[in-house]
Amino acid sequence: MTDPRPIGLFDSGVGGLTVLREVVRRLPHESTVYLGDNGRAPYGTRSDAEVRQFSAECLDELARRDVKAIVVACNTSTSVALPELRRRYDVPIIGVVRPGATAAALATRTRRVGVIATPATIRSHAYFQAIKDENPFVEVYEHATPELVPLVEAGKLRGSEVDAAVRRALAPFLGNRTADGEWIFPLPFGARVDTLLLACTHYPLLAEPIRAAIGEDVAVIDSASATASVLAELLAVNELLAPTDGSAVHVQLTTGDVARFRATAELLFGAEFTAVEPVVIPEAA
Ligand code: DGL
Repeated sequence: MTDPRPIGLFDSGVGGLTVLREVVRRLPHESTVYLGDNGRAPYGTRSDAEVRQFSAECLDELARRDVKAIVVACNTSTSVALPELRRRYDVPIIGVVRPGATAAALATRTRRVGVIATPATIRSHAYFQAIKDENPFVEVYEHATPELVPLVEAGKLRGSEVDAAVRRALAPFLGNRTADGEWIFPLPFGARVDTLLLACTHYPLLAEPIRAAIGEDVAVIDSASATASVLAELLAVNELLAPTDGSAVHVQLTTGDVARFRATAELLFGAEFTAVEPVVIPEAA
């Protein structure tokens, strides 16, 4: 059995496009509907109640478009709202926290993982829990970096302002070497992580400056490709894979500025992924 209906993906803004990119690579026959709630981004500095409400409103829109599965391509929404969202809809829904946590727990050799994310994600400790579930011996150092999402939403991905903001955001992970080559780290972390998990889907858009700041000896990973693998498995097990003879259709919806969304989409995908349409999300009563 096959199912030609699209997969729905949702994020507060352009960040989830980093997940969409991996989904399209991994599942080239699948059609997608991507919804970015750019008009109300960032979510990460909002209350849990707002994140839950906005997430449900966005998923209602995807459900109206008859998607066969949903990827919550937003760590904040996954951390705060995933169980409720799963209760609300009959379609299978996957988030990005478990796949990212598993990837991080498997990547670290020294069992020291740094997690950078939005304040709401860090407050939930969803990653701490998920990494500990995977391997309780991994030390997890969570750190909120609220200054990064506004940069990405504004299309600022390179340059000296971005480099400085990234260095400030990563300060607890950046050590200094003594004359004898010993690393000294600022409190509260006190030691070098060997893996840095980008636990916000916006952050892979800043992967270059982040890698430059943290150094080559730290593995920088994110949830995108692990999430695409989980999705592939989910579609296969549920006999929801699209037929391989049709041509996939990709629609991108934004509640924000279409031109700005398109510019970031073009950076990531090139011209063929610029079918961006404005959308108005009715607020739940
Ligand atoms: N991209 C989202 C995440 O993964 C949220 C960013 C935001 O809106 O604060 O957490």
